[in-house]
Amino acid sequence: MSVSSPIFCAIDTPDASKALALATQLKGKVGGLKLGLEYIMANGPQGVAPFKEMGVPIFVDVKLHDIPNTVAGAVKSLLPLEPDFITIHTSGGAAMMKAAAQAAATATGKRPRLLGVTVLTSLDANDMTQVGQDPDTSAQVERLALLAKESGLDGIVCSSAEVARLRKVLGPDMVLMVPGIRPAWAAANDQKRIMTPREAMDVGATYLVIGRPITGAQSPAEAADRVNQEIVA
Ligand code: C5P
Repeated sequence: MSVSSPIFCAIDTPDASKALALATQLKGKVGGLKLGLEYIMANGPQGVAPFKEMGVPIFVDVKLHDIPNTVAGAVKSLLPLEPDFITIHTSGGAAMMKAAAQAAATATGKRPRLLGVTVLTSLDANDMTQVGQDPDTSAQVERLALLAKESGLDGIVCSSAEVARLRKVLGPDMVLMVPGIRPAWAAANDQKRIMTPREAMDVGATYLVIGRPITGAQSPAEAADRVNQEIVA
């Protein structure tokens, strides 16, 4: 994989052979691959191993959320796979995030970086009120992102609309992993508030999660090249 590309390509499929074929095509073109619940539920955590054997950095997007002891145990169970990133729900609280960070620190190989999920972008003010949370979603995102930093997480997954504000609030060192990215030449699909790769990097993103504009292209490798060139142009 390209160490210089900020792209983590979202491999949203349960099909391991399709995922491995994409990984082969994208080797050297992207910074890594994101494997989510759809893939992990179908293939188990061991489904991550072939990618690591290929030397591909992996973002395990499993959004852990449970009592501290259980989340710490889940992080420890993932350590032998040496994922580069693991996601945790920040609404699980400070003790849960601290336990996860302590578990990650016990890694004898590469230590995974832990990324916090704040408010899911599928939730609006009405949904938040229904579950008894602050309907001001941007205030809630900021509160949870700060708590994640204080609790020892390495970064946050956030929408492009939140990047500039979170970069200011969290400082330069927290990783901001940003989905909802669309090059001007790609279809928006179901994404509503989008930014181009270059715009998102300019406002402070560290990494970009890009799926369909690359995975659905005639040539995923060429699409990835095109995005990389746009970012540095
Ligand atoms: O294909 P596309 O580029 O839209 O894929 C984006 C990826 O980022 C998907 O895996 C999606 O689940 C994830 N994601 C998102 N928006 C969020 C959080 C995650 O699109 N707010």
